[in-house]
Amino acid sequence: MIYPIVKYGNPVLETPSQTVTVFDHELKKLIDDMFESMYAAHGVGLAAPQIGIGRRIAVIDVTFKEDPNAKLVLINPEIVRTEGKHTQSEGCLSIPDFRENVSRPNKVTVRAQDVDGKVFEKTGEELLARALLHETDHLNGKLYISHLSALKRDLMKRKIKKLMKAGEW
Ligand code: NI
Repeated sequence: MIYPIVKYGNPVLETPSQTVTVFDHELKKLIDDMFESMYAAHGVGLAAPQIGIGRRIAVIDVTFKEDPNAKLVLINPEIVRTEGKHTQSEGCLSIPDFRENVSRPNKVTVRAQDVDGKVFEKTGEELLARALLHETDHLNGKLYISHLSALKRDLMKRKIKKLMKAGEW
């Protein structure tokens, strides 16, 4: 099932998500649906609040279907190590048609649980590091625009408000 993507302005995106405690068939189905929804929206990462579900679940595929082994499921993720710094253009499916340069650590280790509840650690660099941080931020109710200068963020918010008023958001 493909879920519609929730857009900026919906409070679910700015609310910390709930810890997952039950690892059952329903969770596996939701994860399958999240991958399907992410690919349908042409994204490389998706967090559950982006489909209106406030639970600490994210999916990532920075290769966008190229490498089946690159599919990554993060349940209850926490960033445990960061290193270096890298600035790159970043966007979000919940803030369509906007992109901004964001500085983030270049190498990141996340600790999370898999679909069966098993704890693992994963280290990523560059795009994967960015995705690990971006999606974990989502589960903490934080959007990438919170990493921008107040000036840039306010400008973007004003543009979005205009689109909302025009019924184009
Ligand atoms: Ni996002």
